[in-house]
Amino acid sequence: MHFDVFTLFPEMFSAYLDESILKRAREADLLRVELHNIRDYTTDKHHTTDDVPYGGGGGMVMKPEPIFAAVEGVLGAPPVCPVILLTPQGRRFTQKVAEELVQQERLALLCGRYEGVDERVRQHLVTDEISIGDYVLTGGELPALVMIDAITRLIPGVLGDENAASNDSHASGLLEYPHYTRPPEFRGWEVPEVLRSGNHAEIERWRQQQSRERTQQRRPDMLEGEE
Ligand code: ADE
Repeated sequence: MHFDVFTLFPEMFSAYLDESILKRAREADLLRVELHNIRDYTTDKHHTTDDVPYGGGGGMVMKPEPIFAAVEGVLGAPPVCPVILLTPQGRRFTQKVAEELVQQERLALLCGRYEGVDERVRQHLVTDEISIGDYVLTGGELPALVMIDAITRLIPGVLGDENAASNDSHASGLLEYPHYTRPPEFRGWEVPEVLRSGNHAEIERWRQQQSRERTQQRRPDMLEGEE
């Protein structure tokens, strides 16, 4: 899977991409992330990437020219892959959307800043708009990392156990069952007997029941087929 990230702050990404599972996925060539600084595609002396909004009002708007130059410079015109704008106005990112997007070979993620991007970018360059939730962040960089993380762990071979992702909360449409590890007793709190029984059929039954109860208690909307 190949991500091209277009951002004004490429340095924000390395701490996260250079650790743990994403680091290993990159080393194994299962994941490739190329960071492109939109500022490098400006042509004026001051490297301007934003400007005041037509019609007045507060905030700044990201200019279209450097964004088009960056995306088309890297991906061609029209771009060879989907171009996703991270914005609170986009469709909601869910496990289902991650499963849909992992089917792509390559994805471009465009991180907005300030009040947003010039509308012509949305209309004539972007092919999809995604929000990671109903709250407003200072930019699309964290949302891009959230998407890269959620999508990458679905790539076959990225998680140690090929089935690991299919047991997750949300993958099955239910929340996950509780997990325990050693010690068997901690501060008087015991690991449920069934998990120590070695009876795999019983354990499976217990886990399924816990998943259902948890989902009913915490996320009844998931049982009604809502997102
Ligand atoms: N940019 C700012 N807030 C965002 C959000 N919730 N999702 C995606 N992009 C954003």
